[in-house]
Amino acid sequence: MKKLEDYVRSIPDFPEEGVIFRDVTSILEEAEGLQLAINAMQELVKDVDFDVVIGPESRGFIFGVPIAYNLKKAFVPVRKKGKLPRETVEMEYDLEYGSATLEMHADAIKPGQKVVIIDDLIATGGTTEAIVKLIEALGGEVVKITFLMELAGLNGRDKLKGYDVETVICYEGK
Ligand code: PRP
Ligand code: MG
Repeated sequence: MKKLEDYVRSIPDFPEEGVIFRDVTSILEEAEGLQLAINAMQELVKDVDFDVVIGPESRGFIFGVPIAYNLKKAFVPVRKKGKLPRETVEMEYDLEYGSATLEMHADAIKPGQKVVIIDDLIATGGTTEAIVKLIEALGGEVVKITFLMELAGLNGRDKLKGYDVETVICYEGK
């Protein structure tokens, strides 16, 4: 039987030379891969006491929503700037070249709510660091952060010290 890791296609030199791209679409394209991925991620949060799943656009939606649905929790999206119609809070974060901005609706998290962040991948940790700041600015408490995959060589966890971070598949490199 194939393991979850076997469904991840690794593409060398994408998006640039020297980088190995860990492709999540190859998991989703197989019914069993999708089952294994959602089940493994859900296992990491099923015993956590929380109210809301937060998932960032776009790959965070793929994993966050089914887990929120299965565990009967709410789902709050974090979106790239300019997509949300009501009052928002925003946070800029660094990309390898330049920067980007993420937004959440200002009333999406109520003060004191316990939040789990779910995304497909932690690389530099910049995306998640920005999301943590947004949640805390709204008075939420981040009780767990989970990823399907981690590129440990980029030390993204250093940006999330003090938080409960768990990943399903850890790659040693970048
Ligand atoms: C990717 C990935 C994570 C983030 C990880 O998203 O899905 O959200 O990068 O990188 P970091 O740890 O260095 O911040 P991307 O911004 O490429 O957008 P997408 O989910 O819409 O593909
Ligand atoms: Mg993403």
